[in-house]
Amino acid sequence: MTEQAFAVPVSIENMVDDLREGLLPAAVFHDREVYDLELRRIFAKSWVYIGHETEIPNRGDFVTRNIGEDPFILIRDEQDELRVLLNACRHRGAQVCRVQAGNTKGFVCPFHGWAYRNSGELIGVPVRSQGYASLDLKEWNLFAAPHVTNYMGLIFANLDPDAVPFEEYLGDYKWYFDIQFALSDGGMEVLGEPHRWLVDANWKQGAENFCGDSSHTQMTHRSVLEAGIIDSVAAGAPKEGTGLHVHDCSGHAISIRQLPGEAPFISYPEEVTHHFHTGVLSQDQFDLAKRSLLHNGTLFPNFSFLHIGLSDSPQKPQTGFLTLRVWQPKGPGQMEIWNWVLAPREASPEYKRRAYQVGMSSFSPSGSFEQDDVAVWPGVTRTAGTVFAELNKVRFNYQMGMGDMSTSKPLTDWVGPGVANSTNAGEGGLRTFHKTWYERMTNTKIEIGDHD
Ligand code: FES
Ligand SMILES: [Fe+2]
Repeated sequence: MTEQAFAVPVSIENMVDDLREGLLPAAVFHDREVYDLELRRIFAKSWVYIGHETEIPNRGDFVTRNIGEDPFILIRDEQDELRVLLNACRHRGAQVCRVQAGNTKGFVCPFHGWAYRNSGELIGVPVRSQGYASLDLKEWNLFAAPHVTNYMGLIFANLDPDAVPFEEYLGDYKWYFDIQFALSDGGMEVLGEPHRWLVDANWKQGAENFCGDSSHTQMTHRSVLEAGIIDSVAAGAPKEGTGLHVHDCSGHAISIRQLPGEAPFISYPEEVTHHFHTGVLSQDQFDLAKRSLLHNGTLFPNFSFLHIGLSDSPQKPQTGFLTLRVWQPKGPGQMEIWNWVLAPREASPEYKRRAYQVGMSSFSPSGSFEQDDVAVWPGVTRTAGTVFAELNKVRFNYQMGMGDMSTSKPLTDWVGPGVANSTNAGEGGLRTFHKTWYERMTNTKIEIGDHD
């Protein structure tokens, strides 16, 4: 298809004026044309999270994942190299791998039996001497993502041959990103298998939420607050001084809850924090981690993290853990949420067990927080799909904290990069996300002004 076939849809053509006002056309959460363009301009051109190296520690270990809606196999081959292979036979396209995870030396296609090594190399074709005598096997290896990187154990791939290197894509956001994964020498380890579940909401609903939608916590998660699972400051009650938001940070955003002068260290106990030291982090990064209650952010487009301490009972102490998220698109009106729970590799098996329990009891399909979010998000997608929204060009309001709306101004003495605001009564992170989204959808650079 020509590029013309994927021109910017009319529904978002002029949305730069809306973005400048802190508004967003409802169509971005619903239109099929918008979604089809996202697959091409965003998912096929961004660094997309595939999995964690601790999920595939041994040669031959693999998991199946997606980039956009395209199926891939992440595998550690016999040479210990990480490969991201298109799960599609080079003969006539059948999926060569039909399970979610496992260990194998190779794949035999279930259709006509073409056989591949776990590196993707084609090594066998049935009835070759009779029907494929001059076939050059080397020309017919499985397709592979052109760029794959292992960044602190996180494996990202990019389908764009001209992609910028991952660190350039991270940009200044690296300052915050590294804090989540490099507090101890061993880094973070995935506990158990990822959980995943379907939600009738657009993928951007989750991605924007983790950019710093602090103000939803008091309402959406009120029952969790009332049960005493987390206190309201940690949860995000808008408060000057503790609710730091950083937006406009190389196109990414993060929300931080901190207690200046104290050392909650994301609720990790001393038995874990004694493994923490600056290492590759600067003293400023380390000190921020130390005074933090939680960090949540989104690396554009659909990879999010939440570093938090929670409990499954008010009688039990808060336990620190890291949860990773992928907001897997499944059409304009549905996503699959993927969720991994991680803990520092040096933590004891008992601690890891507890972290997994707490992670699962809060942010999993049956988790106390999760059920609240997925009850609310589909409503947005439903509204975006109404005829009324289409006929009336309904736009949603993302103005919280903008310009005159806010009593606080961006910090001038903040130690980290990006635009930091010391209150979480703002939607600057969400505006950052949608600005980046618009820029990538239209291949343009825009300025949207105050608190962008
Ligand atoms: S499609 Fe795979 S062997 Fe034919
Ligand atoms: Fe939430």
